[in-house]
Amino acid sequence: MKEREHFGSRRAVIYAMAGSAIGLGNIWRFPYMVGEHGGAVFVISYIVATLLISLPVFIAEVTLGRRSRTSAFGAMSAMDPRHKKRWRWVGLMSVFIPLFILCYYSVIGGWSLYYLFKSFAFDFVKSSPEAVEGLFGSFITSVWMPILMHLLFLATCVWIVARGVKSGIERFSRLTIPALFVLIILLIVYSLSLPGASAGVEYLFRPERGDLNVKTFVYAMGQSFFSLSLGMGAIVTYGSYIKSDENLVVSSAGTAIFDLLFALLAGLAIMPAVFAAGIEPGAGPGLIFQSVPFIFSSMGVKWPVLSAIVSILFFLAIIVAAMTSVISLVEVGVAFLHERFGMKRPRASLLVFLACGAVGVVCSLSFGPLSGIQLVGKNIFDLFDWFASNVLLLLMAFTVVVFVGFVMKKKDVWDEITNGGRKKLNDRLFGVIYFLIKWVAPISVLAIFITNFIL
Ligand code: PHE
Repeated sequence: MKEREHFGSRRAVIYAMAGSAIGLGNIWRFPYMVGEHGGAVFVISYIVATLLISLPVFIAEVTLGRRSRTSAFGAMSAMDPRHKKRWRWVGLMSVFIPLFILCYYSVIGGWSLYYLFKSFAFDFVKSSPEAVEGLFGSFITSVWMPILMHLLFLATCVWIVARGVKSGIERFSRLTIPALFVLIILLIVYSLSLPGASAGVEYLFRPERGDLNVKTFVYAMGQSFFSLSLGMGAIVTYGSYIKSDENLVVSSAGTAIFDLLFALLAGLAIMPAVFAAGIEPGAGPGLIFQSVPFIFSSMGVKWPVLSAIVSILFFLAIIVAAMTSVISLVEVGVAFLHERFGMKRPRASLLVFLACGAVGVVCSLSFGPLSGIQLVGKNIFDLFDWFASNVLLLLMAFTVVVFVGFVMKKKDVWDEITNGGRKKLNDRLFGVIYFLIKWVAPISVLAIFITNFIL
């Protein structure tokens, strides 16, 4: 077994995992999912899914990574060499899924970039709140601008990975993630002061519209996996870098709770503004790009300079958060091509850029010229997003918990989770954690997945 690099401290572990977890999933995807799936009912399902299902999956992925000390592609084969062939397929999936997600994630990264440029041009401050809402529609239905932005965003991320300068960005994100936190709190305060904002808060926290149904829960679970970077090998790979004396349960729970909190705060910043602006909460993937400019534009009426500065910082912080997530997605593909086929990193990066860039162009066009191509009311972009988080991630997460619960030896799992019995609290909790990993998580994922398909 070759020596692997280790994260220095618990803080470094949580930062790195949180860097991958916190991204557009929290700020862009969570609010729009809430809006499409009935508000508070979704929020509650999401919290339950995160604590009861995603957290055990998270611990299982980290356990698998640290025990096998290899990246996601080889982790299962390493733990069960007799069935190498079978696990190789799963390994391949864990390379394919991040690349699949990358294609459309980068389109949203591109939108954020465009809005950053708009912020620099003071466009939100200069236009009236009403005018600003229309901006989004004409932007995404156009052909070239969104494509250009998507390619620019993706090229930057790929370049960072190819040059091996990602530690620089990751260090940078230690600054920008706390900054984003502060900015979101600021937006919450402002957003809550808008006339009509309270309807948004009620929408988020008072469950009355729409009953809880399996569909809500399947989307909530998918969102939770997506947001925590689960079911795609990222956390397995990070797990393999965690030192052997580190407390897995604390690091996992810390990341999950932080990520959850971030999503809830983003919801609290956005939903009141959505209601104040009279935007339909189920507006879809564009929700934050319609509501956030509204916030800046109304703020700009009284405080133009403040609004301009906050909007620039806000979109900048979102872009960096998105980049740290995208970098971990690109890295999976590049590392795979490099390790398996001996491809040099620049060439592997170029390949990832060309393939995902091209598919991303199609996703981007699905809001404009290709919007007519639909399946069950979803355009190509929506289909990608739906298929990734409601099918692929669920299947992969299921496979991981079943692997850790049934293929790995219980003793090995115990050894990782309790650090050979040295973490007393984990030792006491082990029965519960193991039960959640072995039974609760797989059965719930499978049951929800199947019922969703039948209904
Ligand atoms: N979790 C990230 C987010 O919330 C997305 C992501 C998925 C990042 C998979 C890395 C791997 O935006």
